[in-house]
Amino acid sequence: MSETSYDLIVIGGGPGGYVAAIRAAQLGMSVACVEKEATLGGTCLNVGCIPSKALLRSSELFAEAAHGFADHGIKADVSLDLKTLMGRKDKIVGDLTAGIAYLFKKNKVTHISGAGRITAPGSVVVAGAKAEQTLTAGRILIATGSQVTPLAGVEIDETRIVSSTGALALKKVPKRLVVVGAGFIGLELGSVWRRLGAKVTVVEFLDRITPPLDLEIAKTLQRTLKKQGMTFKLGAKVTAAKATKTKVTLDVEPVKGGDVEKLDCDVVLVSVGRRPYTDGLGLDEIGVTRDPQGFITVDSSFATNVDGIYAIGDVIRGPMLAHKAEEDGVACTEIMAGQAGHVDYDLVPGVIYTSPQGAGVGQTEEALKESGVAYNKGKFAFSANGYARCLGETDGFVKILADAKSDRVLGVHILGPDAGTLIHEAVTAMAFGGSAEDIARICHAHPTLAEAVKEAALDVGGRVIHA
Ligand code: NAI
Repeated sequence: MSETSYDLIVIGGGPGGYVAAIRAAQLGMSVACVEKEATLGGTCLNVGCIPSKALLRSSELFAEAAHGFADHGIKADVSLDLKTLMGRKDKIVGDLTAGIAYLFKKNKVTHISGAGRITAPGSVVVAGAKAEQTLTAGRILIATGSQVTPLAGVEIDETRIVSSTGALALKKVPKRLVVVGAGFIGLELGSVWRRLGAKVTVVEFLDRITPPLDLEIAKTLQRTLKKQGMTFKLGAKVTAAKATKTKVTLDVEPVKGGDVEKLDCDVVLVSVGRRPYTDGLGLDEIGVTRDPQGFITVDSSFATNVDGIYAIGDVIRGPMLAHKAEEDGVACTEIMAGQAGHVDYDLVPGVIYTSPQGAGVGQTEEALKESGVAYNKGKFAFSANGYARCLGETDGFVKILADAKSDRVLGVHILGPDAGTLIHEAVTAMAFGGSAEDIARICHAHPTLAEAVKEAALDVGGRVIHA
C-alpha cells in the first residue's frame, strides 16, 4: 500500500471525525483525517463548546465575586481584566486541540491538512497550503459538521454583527448586546456578556425560548434569566441591521405583524441555528443525496446512496450536538468493522450552560401529551434540597415523566445547579429501561444535589419525603 492509500479517509476533524478516526484505527484500519483548519477539534473545540464553557466559567466567577460574595460575609473589590480572561480561554483551546494531535499520533491516525474534495468513490483530492494531493481509500467518511445559519438582512462581520465565533472574542464588553435567537448559543453567550456588564436583549421568533427543551423548564429558565437582568422580546424577528461607526440599529418586527421597532445596540449576536456544511465536497458531482434542508441522507449504517461513502454528525439527521456526532463516529466505524454499532437518538441528553443549567433527556411533557401517552409526573424543587441551599443555588427543579402503566422513565428534565451532570443518572436509568421506582429505591448520598432526582422519582409514586 502506498503512503497515500488508506482503509478509511475521514473528512473533518471535529468531535465526529476525530473520534471516528481514532476508533477506526483502534479497530485495525489505516486512517487519514483531512482537516481544513489549522487545528483539529472542529467547531466544538475551536469556536464552540469549549471556548464558550471557558468564558461561562470565568464570567460566573466574576459575577459571583461582584454580587454573590457579600451573602457569605466576604468583601471583595472586583474588576475585570478581559485580556487575561480571553487568554485563559485561548490556552484551554490550544491545549485541547494539541491533545487531539497527540491522540492521532498515539493511534497512528495520519492528519492531513487541507480541504478535501471527493472526486470519485474512494478518491479524495486535498487542497492544502502546498500542492494538491490525491488520497485513495476503501471508504470515505464525511464528518464536515455545520455552519452558522445566516439571517436575511443582517450581514455578519464578526466585529459588530457577530456569530458565536465573534462573540467568543469581543475586544471589550459591549454596553448593549442584542442576541437574535433564544437558543443554546444565544442564551449561553448572552449570559457571558451580561455577567461581564452588558445590557442584553434577546429577540426570539417563537413565543418561547430554547425550543428543544421541555416547555416548563424553558419558561422557568426564562423567568430566572429575566430576574438576572436579561430582556426578552418573544414572537419577534430582526429583519434588517444597519451598522454605523457608533452603533448598530436593528429593525425588529412582531411575527404576527405590526409596527417595526428600531433597536440600537453596540453588538449583535446572530444565533438562529446551524445548518449542515458540505460546501466544496463535490457531493453533487458524485451524486450523494441530501434532504431539502441539506442534510446528507444515510441508512442505519451511516452509508450514503453512493457505495463506500458514509456520513456522520451534524451533516446527517439527529440533534446537532458534539456528543451525538461522537456516538455516530463510533457506531459507524464499528459497523464498518463488522460489529454492531448503534446510536439511540431518543437518549441523547441536551444541556444548556446558563445559570442555572438546563438539561433534558427523552420525551418532553408536550411530546407525551401530543402523542396521547398516559404518564405520571414527579417534581422536586432545588429550594427543598439541603445541598442546593448550602450552595446558594436554589432556582429550578427536577421533573421525571414515567409511563402511567409500566412506570418506565420516558423523560427527565432538570433546571438547576449542575443539571448537566445530574441528567446522566437519568440517561443511565433510561438506557437500562429503568422505572421511576428504580431511581427512587437507589440510595443517594446525603447531602447532594442528586437527592433531588431521587425525590422527584419518589414524587412520581406520590411519596416524596422533603416537600
Ligand atoms: P438553536 O437552534 O438552538 O436556536 C436558534 C433559535 O433562534 C431558535 O429558538 C429559533 O426559534 C430562533 N430563530 C430562528 N430564526 C430566527 C429569527 N429570524 N429571528 C429570531 N429568532 C430566530 O440554534 P443555536 O443557538 O444557534 O445553536 C446551534 C446548534 O448548536 C444547536 O443545535 C444547539 O443545540 C447547538 N449548541 C449546543 C450547545 C450545548 O450543547 N450546550 C451550546 C451551543 C450550541
